[in-house]
Amino acid sequence: MKQNQSKSKSQSGVGKSRGVAQRGAAHNEGRLPRVCIIGAGCSGMAAAKALKDEGIPFDCYEKGSDIGGLWRFGNDNGVSNIYESLHINTHRDRMEYRDYPMPDDYPDYPSHRLIFSYFQDYARKFGLYNHIQFNTSVEHVEPEPDGTYSVSLSDGRQIHYDSVMVANGHHWSERWPDPMYPGQKNFKGIQFHAHRYVDPEKPHNLVGKNVLVVGMGNSAMDIAVELSRPGLARNVFLSGRRGAYVFPKYLFGKPFDKLTEAFPVWVPFWFKEMVASLIFRIAVGKMSDFGLPDPDFGLGQAHPTISNEILGRFGSGDIKFRRGIQSMDARSIRFEDGSMEEIDAIVWCTGYNVSFPFFDEQFLSAPDNALPLFHRAIQPERPGICFVGLLQPLGPVMPLSEAQSKWYAKYLTGKYALPSVDYMNRYMEAEQKEMQKRYVSSARHTMQVDFELFLSELDKECSKGMKRAEKTGQPVNIPPLAHNYPEIRASRSGRSSQNGKSGKRGHEKRKASVARR
Ligand SMILES: Cc1cc2nc3c(=O)[nH]c(=O)nc-3n(C[C@H](O)[C@H](O)[C@H](O)COP(=O)(O)OP(=O)(O)OC[C@H]3O[C@@H](n4cnc5c(N)ncnc54)[C@H](O)[C@@H]3O)c2cc1C
Ligand SMILES: NC(=O)c1ccc[n+]([C@@H]2O[C@H](COP(=O)([O-])OP(=O)(O)OC[C@H]3O[C@@H](n4cnc5c(N)ncnc54)[C@H](OP(=O)(O)O)[C@@H]3O)[C@@H](O)[C@H]2O)c1
Repeated sequence: MKQNQSKSKSQSGVGKSRGVAQRGAAHNEGRLPRVCIIGAGCSGMAAAKALKDEGIPFDCYEKGSDIGGLWRFGNDNGVSNIYESLHINTHRDRMEYRDYPMPDDYPDYPSHRLIFSYFQDYARKFGLYNHIQFNTSVEHVEPEPDGTYSVSLSDGRQIHYDSVMVANGHHWSERWPDPMYPGQKNFKGIQFHAHRYVDPEKPHNLVGKNVLVVGMGNSAMDIAVELSRPGLARNVFLSGRRGAYVFPKYLFGKPFDKLTEAFPVWVPFWFKEMVASLIFRIAVGKMSDFGLPDPDFGLGQAHPTISNEILGRFGSGDIKFRRGIQSMDARSIRFEDGSMEEIDAIVWCTGYNVSFPFFDEQFLSAPDNALPLFHRAIQPERPGICFVGLLQPLGPVMPLSEAQSKWYAKYLTGKYALPSVDYMNRYMEAEQKEMQKRYVSSARHTMQVDFELFLSELDKECSKGMKRAEKTGQPVNIPPLAHNYPEIRASRSGRSSQNGKSGKRGHEKRKASVARR
């Protein structure tokens, strides 16, 4: 049953730093591990709720002055940005947290404003605001020899935790062409990444200009469609180095992405792809019917590109497709099909890098966006760190972040036990091989998961692990040691240094001081 949520603005917490947050479940301090959650986007909030439900002591730190991460338009966190016209492309029923339905009166694919409001309601409903320290960035996470993690914060504090849940998002670090295209550095027009796009006039006025949009993902589709509206850009060109199947939001009057629910999870991928290809061919046609290259891969072998409007725009000549870029000059771009265009501005919709600036790179990083994880959350040899929402589903992220969080919370209480490291490594290897076999090789396909299958596999693993834990009497898996450490406050000078370096430098000094205690 769906419910409508009342919106009490007084509790919103917008713009307020909560100062010292209440540390949840104080009675479990010293009995259960103490957890640090990095980020209060939709993944960090799911983590906070799961820990709260299990009575696990935790603090959640958020760079910005409110929850919502990417879905907070004009976020002041310095990392998230979305465009004014953004609507979700994953159906609301699939996107909602399983613990909190979206209001009945929400449309199928709501705007970012409704989505943000829903997240605020979620945070209020489950009392999460009091557990989040806003305007507070995690600057550095240092593993200690005893298995705890010392976390340095932007306000100069250093606090120890037994576990860290990483929910810092993976759609904020811009991926630009690397290496650059020949002549790219000579280009004299405007160029910026889709991450900074707000509307046709911000961050640059593109009205009346010849604009090139590069990429075949969802950012490229949305931005090209918007700029090609009458009276905006003079010409819009879309360049792709390979083709893409462009899925509509609706097929036969039904939300398209909900059709995947028609198949039980055990149906093999090849069968689903065969049926989907047939339906696509009948209902949409070939991409070459619209002047796009026909992809040289199958329908399910790339992250889905969804747009209701772009094919029509090609048909009406409002957007012109061009092959990949061959070379660039001060104002002109030459494409692989031999054509050349005078271009005033380029919007690089070339995807994102996975980045964890608070870890030392040699300790933990994701080169080329690859970071194999057990159920996309845990490195077998480091179960004290859990990633939340670090995946690219064929479907929405939120229910998967929620499921990962509940699973990990059970691990922290001892109600769930992980399988052997060897098993986890074999599982991950098999999964990795399957993914590489199925998807086109690209930095955007390093963490793909099938929505329903992911949830079902995690559920199965959770049941198995709970039985394992029962057999051994549910011992706590991560010894709670962090409460033994004092909270340290850096001197004023340490606090005032900039760009996150204060955290690391201060951290070294503070570590020495803790060691002396
Ligand atoms: C344009 C666009 C449209 C999208 N549309 C959809 C969609 O329709 N459906 C869908 O399911 N997904 C969509 N996505 C994917 C998107 O990543 C997820 O919807 C979702 O935002 C992921 O939430 P998150 O909490 O993991 O990350 P984010 O929303 O990025 O939140 C991360 C939070 O962590 C905070 N943070 C980061 N570093 C630190 C730090 N060091 N210290 C403290 N706080 C920190 C940030 O301030 C931020 O609040 C879209 C992505 C883009 C780019
Ligand atoms: N409305 C929505 O809900 C919405 C809107 C925007 C984005 N999103 C989501 O946000 C995430 C990111 O989407 P995105 O579109 O920004 O990025 P993306 O899905 O990673 O797509 C990047 C595109 O850029 C291409 N590319 C990368 N490097 C290139 C280069 N050097 N030269 C030419 N092309 C290059 C990629 O091609 P290759 O395949 O060849 O690498 C791909 O077509 C996705 O999960 C997406 O679903 C959702």
